[in-house]
Amino acid sequence: MTEEDLYTVYKGVFLFKKIHAQKNDILIVTYPKSGTVWMQEIVPLILSQGDPVVVDTVPNWDRVPWLEARAYIQNLDQRPSPRVFITHFQYNMMPTGFLKVKPRVIYVMRNPRDVFTSYLHFSRMASYLVSPGTQTEFLNKFLDGKVIFGSWFDHVKGWLSATEQHIMYISYEEMILDLEASVTRMAQFLDTPLDSEMIRKITDRCVFKNMKKNKMSNYSLMPSTMMDQNVSEFLRKGIAGDWKNHLTAAEAENFDEFYRKQMKDVKYTFVWD
Ligand code: PPS
Repeated sequence: MTEEDLYTVYKGVFLFKKIHAQKNDILIVTYPKSGTVWMQEIVPLILSQGDPVVVDTVPNWDRVPWLEARAYIQNLDQRPSPRVFITHFQYNMMPTGFLKVKPRVIYVMRNPRDVFTSYLHFSRMASYLVSPGTQTEFLNKFLDGKVIFGSWFDHVKGWLSATEQHIMYISYEEMILDLEASVTRMAQFLDTPLDSEMIRKITDRCVFKNMKKNKMSNYSLMPSTMMDQNVSEFLRKGIAGDWKNHLTAAEAENFDEFYRKQMKDVKYTFVWD
């Protein structure tokens, strides 16, 4: 690969080239710790109509690559259609070329209290992130949006406002409550009809205890110098409401007050409210 293949020049500086979006692309969007790897399992299985070969043989970061890591993605244009990408970008950070073609987007949200709890554990095990400090210190950073990919509140509000895009909204909690119904809804959105046996097969592959065993999805391929799964596993608990085991009463109250202020104008009904 040469600079010309990979870069564009802006004001004399090399930048990564934009991805040439295709109408048929599928984009999964998540704030960190909201169900990213889960979706990297579910969507390829929907597209393969339950055939597990791709999730058994291709690591998640390669089967559903990151928009923000496109420097590492080779031969993007040769990928079979529909191509599936994933991103943590906030709406206002999206490459404009992507939004112009209006690909199908699945936006996954999770109760921010559980996102915080998961993010805290992840920040302790991922050596490439800034150490989180104490729980209260990290909570202040999280609410201030001083974490990688910024404020959960800005992220969710931004994507909920993207009404001109072709978006399906779903939550981690809905997937926990009824994974079969969630898979069915996603398959319909992706125009991939599945019979009940295929849906059952996909659901079975994607429940926490089974997915956790998949080395192509549990990040055990990552060196422990980057992710130390003895400190905290990547597929850690996989439940809704674990924040109740971690936040103190004062922290939870602080969180609630902040949440109410930030979300007061949002019309969307969240499962956790
Ligand atoms: S990341 O770093 O942004 O890619 O993390 P992300 O994948 O978004 O979030 C990790 C959390 O998702 C949980 N997870 C699951 N929960 C239920 N079922 C399945 N199959 C599943 N796969 C991943 C994972 O356990 C993390 O949540 P916590 O609360 O830490 O367990």
